[in-house]
Amino acid sequence: MKGQAMWGGRFTKRPDHLVELFNASVLFDARLALHDIKGSIAHATMLAKVGVLTEEEASIIVDGLAIVRTEIEDGKFVWQTSLEDVHMNIEHRLTALIGPVGGKLHTARSRNDQVALDMHLYVREELDMLDELLTEWMSTLLDVARRYDQVIIPGYTHLQRAQPVLLAHHLLAYFWMFSRDRERVRDARKRVDWSPLGAGALAGTTFPIDREDVAKQLDFHQLYENSMDAVSDRDYIVETLSIMAMIMMHLSRLSEELILFTSYEFGFIELDDAYTTGSSIMPQKKNPDIAELVRGKTGRVYGHLLGLLTTVKGLPLAYNKDLQEDKEGLFDAFDTVKPALVIFKAMIATMTVKTDVIEKAMRHDFSAATDLADYLAKKGLPFRQAHEVVGKIVRTCLDRQIALIDIDLATLKEHSEHFEQDALTCLLPRSVVDARNSRGGTSPVAVAQQIQYATAMLQD
Ligand code: ARG
Repeated sequence: MKGQAMWGGRFTKRPDHLVELFNASVLFDARLALHDIKGSIAHATMLAKVGVLTEEEASIIVDGLAIVRTEIEDGKFVWQTSLEDVHMNIEHRLTALIGPVGGKLHTARSRNDQVALDMHLYVREELDMLDELLTEWMSTLLDVARRYDQVIIPGYTHLQRAQPVLLAHHLLAYFWMFSRDRERVRDARKRVDWSPLGAGALAGTTFPIDREDVAKQLDFHQLYENSMDAVSDRDYIVETLSIMAMIMMHLSRLSEELILFTSYEFGFIELDDAYTTGSSIMPQKKNPDIAELVRGKTGRVYGHLLGLLTTVKGLPLAYNKDLQEDKEGLFDAFDTVKPALVIFKAMIATMTVKTDVIEKAMRHDFSAATDLADYLAKKGLPFRQAHEVVGKIVRTCLDRQIALIDIDLATLKEHSEHFEQDALTCLLPRSVVDARNSRGGTSPVAVAQQIQYATAMLQD
């Protein structure tokens, strides 16, 4: 029957047109085409080695697959939804090119282990790409941190001024977040690097296949030891989505800070024109759209993670068609995270830090208050008492409408006789930062040390 599906033997009619469209995955899984062909070449080569195919049959199949690959690469391949998915489109074209011997490729294989194989190949490659992009992004964060290793900005808790920090220190906090993401990518890769091929539909195969050989050809370091697990496992996709959700969460936090810091109210940072957009009505606007979009798209990537967790949660073993739903969310997540990392890298590398605005803004805060309390504690006052005394000093300043830095020694002495001239010096943002010399702290010495650790980590 012309145009019949490849599984059409037991059917008396074709699926309803809408069913055909609803059932088909080729519109999105065509993305797996080159992995599918690679897997098929390995499979056919193995089948010849174990004598299931003759050497001649295998080489006709392999050469035919090479032609199909070229057609796909050249954009000449015609994808048909009536052929359901990437696997059957390719096999159908192969058979059209080389004749009935093409039908031998599917010996000892099911689409269930085939799609699992394709996805493992695809995810492994994408994780390697993510590793590279994260490394480049981390290296930019480190470069920009080095550039601003003398710039002091307000540090916040509860989004209230807390203690001043080096801008380098602030940026390096992100470096470490992304270094953990990269570690997660590398760890997840180990669990993606397993070959499911040979599981058949669910129970293995009656043919004398050599699973180790296929795994070796495709550079997998392990085999699934249970055929039912091999075809129904989507853990590695959930894990990959969760890593991408985490990367987006980190980018989104940075986005939020960029949005705040580029606002008129803060004005600490200006983004390069190339990474902003204007308004169609308000001529003065320069909007941080990219940061906003990354913040927005974070929700979308979280959605893909939650979507797949929900899809898999009620599934009995082994393969169920629900699992076809593992793809679009994953593809979309990669399509979101990868450009976000690339654009962020360029956006952060080209931003302007407005040091004059920052310096001015810092004059009017109370972020040296802890240091004044530390000063008294170092003179022997219990820290709790010191805290109380400085709280009163802050109150006095607020009442007199002056900044902490504008206080004089006489006023300080009214609050405690322990204050000497050097107490005024410790109020300077530079002194506050310099004094935080503990490991992992914000002093230039501690940050220089941190930069060394980060540099070593980057080269890992
Ligand atoms: N398109 C399917 C998927 O993505 C391939 C496997 C189909 N297997 C089946 N028994 N219908 O999951």
